[in-house]
Amino acid sequence: MSKSVAIIGAGPSGMAQLRAFESAQKKGQEIPEIVCFEKQDDWGGQWNYSWRTGTDRYGEPVHSSMYRNLWSNGPKEVLEFADYTFDEHFGKPISSYPPREVLWDYINGRVQQSDVKKMVRFSTVVRWVDYNEDTELFTVTVEDLRTGKTESNTFDYVVVGSGHFTFPNVPDFDGVETFPGVINHAHDFRGAESFADKDVLMIGASYSAEDIGSQAYKMGARSVTMSYRTQPMGYQWPEGIDEQPLVDHIDGSTVYFSNGVSKEFDAIILCTGYLHHYPFLPSDLALDSPNTIYPDHLYEGVVSEANNKLFYLGAQDQWLTFNMFDAQAWFVRDIILGRIELPDAATQRAHMDQWKDRFLALSGKDDDIDFQCDYVRKLIEQTDYPMFDLVEVADILKSWTHDKKRDIMGYRNAVYPSVLTGTMAAQHHTEWLDALDDSLATYLAVPESAESGATSV
Ligand SMILES: Cc1cc2nc3c(=O)[nH]c(=O)nc-3n(C[C@H](O)[C@H](O)[C@H](O)COP(=O)(O)OP(=O)(O)OC[C@H]3O[C@@H](n4cnc5c(N)ncnc54)[C@H](O)[C@@H]3O)c2cc1C
Ligand SMILES: NC(=O)c1ccc[n+]([C@@H]2O[C@H](COP(=O)([O-])OP(=O)(O)OC[C@H]3O[C@@H](n4cnc5c(N)ncnc54)[C@H](OP(=O)(O)O)[C@@H]3O)[C@@H](O)[C@H]2O)c1
Repeated sequence: MSKSVAIIGAGPSGMAQLRAFESAQKKGQEIPEIVCFEKQDDWGGQWNYSWRTGTDRYGEPVHSSMYRNLWSNGPKEVLEFADYTFDEHFGKPISSYPPREVLWDYINGRVQQSDVKKMVRFSTVVRWVDYNEDTELFTVTVEDLRTGKTESNTFDYVVVGSGHFTFPNVPDFDGVETFPGVINHAHDFRGAESFADKDVLMIGASYSAEDIGSQAYKMGARSVTMSYRTQPMGYQWPEGIDEQPLVDHIDGSTVYFSNGVSKEFDAIILCTGYLHHYPFLPSDLALDSPNTIYPDHLYEGVVSEANNKLFYLGAQDQWLTFNMFDAQAWFVRDIILGRIELPDAATQRAHMDQWKDRFLALSGKDDDIDFQCDYVRKLIEQTDYPMFDLVEVADILKSWTHDKKRDIMGYRNAVYPSVLTGTMAAQHHTEWLDALDDSLATYLAVPESAESGATSV
């Protein structure tokens, strides 16, 4: 097969694409020539933690928005690879909400067993992608960050796996320039230790606000306030955390909210989300979307309507992550291998409209969960990716949302069974609120006195 594929990014999505091709190859299929360009020195995308903020050692924007003490905010049972279980990787049950380093180890473990790393050109940033209608080829221009050398190569297909939680959405607030304390976007947040005995404000009402606010509480902040634009998160916050409507204006260290309440703060974190931003793509090929579970103009959630040889992985807001990227990568692989034939443009549009109508009629989290689980199931049905019980996954996600309502500081103590192996997760030796060492070694160590009998929620 003389086709060639460029994969942009070796985060979980790009790694899924590599693994998808490798899986076909192991079954005797000839695969195209594949080059994966990754601007960081290692793979793992967001999970490849960096202490740096701003620019990296090459002067490139730092990619990861993760922080030192980040733990999974969803149960691991909803993201488990169907072809590489947690049991297989860790050899023993682990808890449902592992810290960042543990999940990186798991993602790395699957691809480490294979030979796909040789397909990745690390420290190589994609600068520009162009499509030539005459040759029907993409020209991909990259820069080797270690040497500063640029080069251009042509490819039949391009898979964009560059993520969409890197470029901060930074709103302006009246008077914000007078604020004397620390003010950062969540993208640049790395740890909450310095918030001890401080009054801190999170602007935003989604996962970052919830979790960075909880981190600040855990590290001893005097008070944590979360400011919402549309609606409060509404959790039963412990004493010391409250929610206020949107910031009206700021005067020095005093923040005035739209309900007339005002308060002095030491630090502000803008938890205001991220932009879909693809600086290496011309505007006709770049996805332009808010953070949503149904970005339009992607047939089957992956095929660019503008150019059917360009694919996006992981472009959705994510209830499911690693296994959804797999489902997408296997589907994209099979289009490239000619196993799946794309319908004509009108049929693709009609299909997208059907999903869009369903998306627009969704009401609430349970609907969103079912929508994304159905989407993933329908993708898997079209490939040889191992099917798993997505109804059970949806049930776990729904239980998770209820766990959070019940106990926002304690939901990570719940345990769930694997939908693949049936193994019940272990009760972790230390409750999340008390766990101050997030390392893999401490996580996997089992204090004798705390050996667990796993219990279900
Ligand atoms: C703060 C935070 C916490 C999260 N926590 C969780 C969690 O607990 N559980 C969960 O399941 N998910 C979580 N996520 C979701 C996360 O997006 C996914 O888990 C996953 O990392 C997405 O994989 P990806 O490969 O699509 O994108 P990314 O992980 O963002 O990887 C994209 C890769 O592309 C590379 N890249 C980008 N541009 C270029 C370029 N021009 N040239 C070359 N390479 C490039 C980047 O360096 C990066 O390695 C979290 C996200 C954030 C931001
Ligand atoms: N593992 C973890 O613990 C963890 C921690 C953090 C983040 N994450 C992940 O990171 C990803 C991104 O989450 P996120 O919370 O950063 O982004 P997000 O889910 O897109 O939420 C963005 C938030 O910003 C608010 N917002 C946007 N513009 C605003 C403005 N001008 N003024 C006030 N508020 C504004 C939005 O409010 P509206 O609702 O009004 O639009 C929304 O509440 C998610 O996948 C999440 O799972 C995980």
